Formats: sequence, structure tokens, C-alpha cells
Amino acid sequence: MIEISNVTKEYKTGNEKVPILKGVDLSISEGEFVCIIGPSGSGKTTLLHLLGGLDIPTSGNIQLQGSELSSKSEKQRTLIRRREIGFVFQNYQLLPTLTVYENIVFPIHADGKKVSPKEVETLLEAVDLKGYEKRFPHELSGGQQQRVAIARALIHNPKILLADEPTGNLDRQRSGDILDLLATFHYKRKQTIVMVTHDMFAAGYADRIILFKDGVIEAEVKREDDDYAKFLTRFMA
Ligand SMILES: Nc1ncnc2c1ncn2[C@@H]1O[C@H](COP(=O)(O)OP(=O)(O)O)[C@@H](O)[C@H]1O
Ligand SMILES: [Mg+2]
Repeated sequence: MIEISNVTKEYKTGNEKVPILKGVDLSISEGEFVCIIGPSGSGKTTLLHLLGGLDIPTSGNIQLQGSELSSKSEKQRTLIRRREIGFVFQNYQLLPTLTVYENIVFPIHADGKKVSPKEVETLLEAVDLKGYEKRFPHELSGGQQQRVAIARALIHNPKILLADEPTGNLDRQRSGDILDLLATFHYKRKQTIVMVTHDMFAAGYADRIILFKDGVIEAEVKREDDDYAKFLTRFMA
């Protein structure tokens, strides 16, 4: 479903090129729930943006469902993102002039499709924002905005959900609710999920945990591996 091979990314600051991703190889199967953990600044968000076609790698390849992302035009990548991918941004990126309802249905409208009121209802309920439809983002707490961002990422029933610290601003109870929601969608709708988090409680939901460090994959563990529990507790600290 997702094949990342030898991907590098560097940013230019002034005359200097700063390498951020230093050769990432990762293969994610259809229907897998993968979690990426690792220190702040290690390049997790950068990698997720590349997967979502929001940016292109400096070198290397990223294939989504068998086709190379970086060979596509910006327009084609936008279409793929609109139809196949749900993206939860680390900083939410809600549209400030739109209400909660309008933000959530935005991807459907952008694609010229019809909104299913039932689907909106289901998601509003799932993220516990019923009654908040007419509010604007600035009238919400950080956690509420994050939950709008999650509903928006799921509204078009994407094949792939890319979520950047989707529980970063939620308390344990809310995190649990949101993770249950993601797990349910993953299970019932066979969604492939790539979630970045530094919360080991959240990581515990994934089939596979990937430890990212300084622009490369340092280690990974699958739920069925013998050292899974050890891996988890090692990074709990
Ligand atoms: N657009 C950009 N231009 C220059 N540097 C960037 C840009 N985006 C991210 N970086 C740098 O890349 C590094 C990795 O960032 P990021 O991918 O956000 O890490 P993480 O999500 O793991 O915290 C950081 O040092 C950050 O400052
Ligand atoms: Mg980040």
C-alpha cells in the first residue's frame, strides 16, 4: 500500500542544506495500523507530509497503491489527497472563517461531492462535538479543535489516514475515545493508519511501532514480537 524507499529530505536555510530525513525505507501493508514515535525534531512530521503528498522528497521514492507520488503533478497529488488520504495536522489547520460543521465537510465540498448528513452526525458524535456545529475554531479549546481536525480527516472515508500527534492536546479519557474511534475505523473500514505520537498509550493501539531518530528508522517492533512489551516499556519512561 505504501512503499518508501531510500527517501531523503533536506531543507535549505540560507545557503546551507540541512538534511532532515537521511534515507528512510519503510513498507506499510494495506490495513496496517502503524505508529511512528521518536524525539521532537527527528523528522516525523516531515515524513508524514511526504506520505500525504504535501511535499516531495529530495531523493528516493514513495509509492502509494503502486504509483509513484513524486512523479505526479501538484494537482494530481491534491486529488489523491482529497480522495484517498485523511490528514490530521499536528497544528490542526482548521479554516478560521468556517464553522465546525463547514470545516468537517470541507473535503467533501472541495471534491464536489454530496455530504452525507448521517456520516457527519456519526463523526460529530464520535468526536463528542454535537451541539458545536455552528461554532468557529477560535471559540473552541485546543482539544476540541483537534477533534474537529480528526472528524474532517475521516469524513470522506479515506483509505489511508495520516495522523500527526492526533491526541497531543487531549487528556487521557479523550485520547482513549479518539484512539477507540481510529481503531474502530481501522477495523471496520479496513483503513490503513500511520500515526505519529509520543504517547506510548497511543502507540499501544498500533500493530507496529517504529522508532524514528535523527532522520532514520532506528528500530521497530510488531505486536506479535516477543520483545513488544519490553520495547513499549523502554520508551514509556
Ligand atoms: N519547512 C521547513 N524548513 C526548514 N526546516 C524545517 C522545515 N520543516 C521542518 N524543518 C526542520 O526539520 C526538523 C524536523 O522537523 P519535524 O519533521 O517537524 O520533526 P518532528 O515532527 O519529529 O518533531 C526540525 O529541525 C525542523 O526545524
Ligand atoms: Mg512533528
